[in-house]
Amino acid sequence: MKFTPDQFEKETDRLYDELQKAGWSREDCLLITPLTLEINALKKKQDAIILAHSYQTPDIMYGVADFIGDSYGLARKAMEMDCKKIIFCSVHFMGETAKLLNPAKEVLVPSVAGCSLAASITPEDVRKLRERHPDAGVVCYVNTTAAVKAESDASCTSANVVQIIDAMPQDEIIFIPDKLMGINMKKLTKKKIHLWEGTCIVHERFDEEAVKAIREQYPNAKILAHTECNSAIVDSVDMAGSTSQMVKYIAESSDKEFMLVTECGLTDRIKVEQPTKKIVGTCNLCPYMKEISLKNVLKALKNPSDDQKIEISEDIAEKAKKSLDRMFELEKSSSL
Ligand code: 13P
Ligand code: SF4
Repeated sequence: MKFTPDQFEKETDRLYDELQKAGWSREDCLLITPLTLEINALKKKQDAIILAHSYQTPDIMYGVADFIGDSYGLARKAMEMDCKKIIFCSVHFMGETAKLLNPAKEVLVPSVAGCSLAASITPEDVRKLRERHPDAGVVCYVNTTAAVKAESDASCTSANVVQIIDAMPQDEIIFIPDKLMGINMKKLTKKKIHLWEGTCIVHERFDEEAVKAIREQYPNAKILAHTECNSAIVDSVDMAGSTSQMVKYIAESSDKEFMLVTECGLTDRIKVEQPTKKIVGTCNLCPYMKEISLKNVLKALKNPSDDQKIEISEDIAEKAKKSLDRMFELEKSSSL
C-alpha cells in the first residue's frame, strides 16, 4: 500500500499525541507509522474491527484498536458489532469467546497466545470434579478454553463472578480454574465453593509485603488490585476488581495517586487516558498478552495463517455458547 508524505505526517502526529503520554518519543511513533497506516486502511477495506484487551501495548491500544476493555466488556462489544471480521488483540481464549458469540463472523487472533489459567484445566478434569461433587453447579471463569466452557454450567468474568455464583440455583459451586480468585470469592458468598489449582502467573507473583511498602512510601495513594491476586493483597487494598472496574474507579476518584496491582498494560492505559493521575509502584508483564504486535496484527489481516483463524468444532461451540448465554441470563435475572 502507498501513502502520501502528508498521510504519514498526520498519522505520526496522531500517534504521538496519544503515545507520548505513555513515554513514547516521536521517533518511536515514526517507526510504527507505516504499520498503523496499513492496518487501519485494511481494517476499513475488509469491514473488520480490532478489539484490544487493557493489557496490550499502547501502539496496539491507541494505534489500531477500535475498542479497549476487559474480557467482559470486549465479549459484549463483540456481540454488538456490525462487521464481517474481528481481530482480537489478546490471548486465545478471548478470541474463542468472541467466536462463540459471533459464529457468523470471521474471528482472528494475531498470535496463538495462551494463558496459565486456561492451560491449567482440561474438559476431563471438569468431568472428574462433577463426579466428586455431584450436587454442585460448575461456574468457569472466562479464562478457560471453549472445550472447558462446554463442560461448565455457566461462565463468569472478573467483573461479575460473585453475581453469577450467587445467581446459580445450586448451594454448592465448583469454581474453576482460578484458585486465588476462588478464595477471594468464598468470602463474598454464602455458597459452598470447591476450588481448582489454577493460578495466573502474572498476578500470583505480587507479594503483600511489596504492596505494604508502597502504602508506607505513598500514604495518599489508593491501591487497586485484580481479583486474581492472593487474598492478603485483595483484603488490604482500597479496591479489587476487573481491569475496567479499575479504570472506572480511577476516573471517578478525586484522588491523584494510585498503585495498580496488575499487568503493566493497565498502567499504560491510565497514563494515556487519564494523564492527570499518577501511577506509583511496579506492575508485572503478561508474556502471553505481550505476544501481540503490530506485525502479527498486520499478518492476520493480510495473510492469516490457519492458527490465527479461530475455529471451534460445532459440538463444542454449541455447548460452550450455552455456558456464556447462561452468564448473561443469570446476570439479567439477578439484577431485576
Ligand atoms: P479482566 O477481565 O479483568 O480484563 O481480566 C482478564 C485477565 O486475563 C486478567 O489477568
Ligand atoms: Fe492469563 Fe494472567 Fe495473562 Fe491474564 S494476565 S492472560 S490470567 S496469564
